[in-house]
Amino acid sequence: MPEQILLTKTAVAERADALLAQYREMIGIWESEMFLFYAAVNPFAPKQILESGRARGKSTLILARCFPDARVISVEYERQSENAAAAEAKLKSCKNVDLLYGDSREILPQGLRNGDAVLIDGPKDFRALKLAIDLLRTGKPCAVFIHDFPPNSPQRKFVERNFPSAFFGDDPLFKRFQSLDSERDPRPNPQRRYGIFVCLPPRLPTPYFLLRLQLMLRGNP
Ligand SMILES: C[S@@+](CC[C@H](N)C(=O)[O-])C[C@H]1O[C@@H](n2cnc3c(N)ncnc32)[C@H](O)[C@@H]1O
Repeated sequence: MPEQILLTKTAVAERADALLAQYREMIGIWESEMFLFYAAVNPFAPKQILESGRARGKSTLILARCFPDARVISVEYERQSENAAAAEAKLKSCKNVDLLYGDSREILPQGLRNGDAVLIDGPKDFRALKLAIDLLRTGKPCAVFIHDFPPNSPQRKFVERNFPSAFFGDDPLFKRFQSLDSERDPRPNPQRRYGIFVCLPPRLPTPYFLLRLQLMLRGNP
């Protein structure tokens, strides 16, 4: 993994400015949250991106287009749902995407390679955090993003206490990129519901067993 690439919110916001025009051109109107993932991960040029939680494949399609040289391994739990069929149809022409079914908590640790970027949008909350911690423990990911970390949520408070270098998608530094969403949804900002990503930079800030112990004490074995 290149050591000189900074994964701090200031560095990402600066890179994001430079990448915005290129991103618009590639995918047209998409949301600012995926743009944050793109801006954060793009300089690492990951060979592989692991996605957990595909649903109808909207995020998967953005990953496939933004990272054409990467293999996108997308894992979805629900095989029988209408969403699964919709995602398969949507992603049929994406040659760099593998659509897997199963529990990503079992599949992702097996498929993780050095330098991979990870996006978790299901499971949620502390189950997602536990998966992220298990992946980061290996020292392999260049970044792990998890969706749905709104202010004051228990999972966010846990990250704020234990991951000093983590940052969140609702940071004022990233607000200007919400113009991407206005093109898709002209309602004023407060009416849009952002899931809000947390970005966990590589390596655990605290020994693994301490983090796991704290999760267990919270009732998340
Ligand atoms: C919010 S949706 C994903 C939306 C998608 N990322 C997008 O932007 O279009 C969450 C998905 O995660 C899936 N999911 C939940 N737990 C999972 C697990 N343990 N492994 C794989 N997928 C899971 C759910 O079935 C659901 O389809």
